[in-house]
Amino acid sequence: MLAPMKNYSRIFVFSFIVAAAFSSLRMEAAEQEGSANHDHHGSTVKENQDPTPAFHKHFKDAKHWAKSFEDPERDKWQKPDEVIKLLGIKAGTVVADLGAGTGYFSIRMAKAHPEAKIIGADIEPDMVAYLEQQAQERKLTNLSAYKIDAAKPELPAKAGLALMVDTFHHIDNRVDYLKNLAPSLAPKGQVALIDFTKASPIGPPAKHRIEPEEVIAQFKAAGYDLQKRFDDLPNQYFLLFQKHE
Ligand SMILES: C[S@@+](CC[C@H](N)C(=O)[O-])C[C@H]1O[C@@H](n2cnc3c(N)ncnc32)[C@H](O)[C@@H]1O
Repeated sequence: MLAPMKNYSRIFVFSFIVAAAFSSLRMEAAEQEGSANHDHHGSTVKENQDPTPAFHKHFKDAKHWAKSFEDPERDKWQKPDEVIKLLGIKAGTVVADLGAGTGYFSIRMAKAHPEAKIIGADIEPDMVAYLEQQAQERKLTNLSAYKIDAAKPELPAKAGLALMVDTFHHIDNRVDYLKNLAPSLAPKGQVALIDFTKASPIGPPAKHRIEPEEVIAQFKAAGYDLQKRFDDLPNQYFLLFQKHE
């Protein structure tokens, strides 16, 4: 009587392990790719309107991500100083770095333009806390970190320029996002967007890379004109838009 009982309990334990493993695999897949109608925090959003689906990825641990975002090797292809020069930031301009992460661009912009006000904005509280600490440690009084919403980026001051580097492909319902951004931009406010090309050897999975033509069409639909297109970066396109008045 005891032997069959042992077998039953073995089968039960085995089935439990298999079920748990499948459930954990499903969770991992959902976290990697996200799902069509859930945002980064699991709340329901409306049906996705983007031809290229957003890459849903969590950036919770700033120290962990700093290793790759701040890797000195990145400077070779990211050319941050050249990008910042091309942005032509003027004295007194409020610049919002949307999806600032660990501050790769925010910190450099704050150093290069002490007379401008840089807002490093992100949806991840740990990124915001990390950047705030970096600003304090480096005594960058013109740099502040700010937590924004994933769909409605309301800024604490009207920005003359918003920069988005490697962030647009993480955003859902991009036309709505850009429309929601418009009230936080100053009159004739600009948006500079840098993201990975399909041909780049690095970047997000190919199916989440947005062609620049799609980006331009989405900005147009949201009420922005393409002002300039820079061809200075090897792995990314670099587009500058201006909001309609
Ligand atoms: C690949 S990282 C790029 C960080 C930084 N721009 C850089 O170039 O190093 C993308 C960042 O965008 C943030 N992010 C994701 N979705 C966002 C959204 N809807 N609005 C603003 N930031 C977002 C992430 O938390 C992450 O810090």
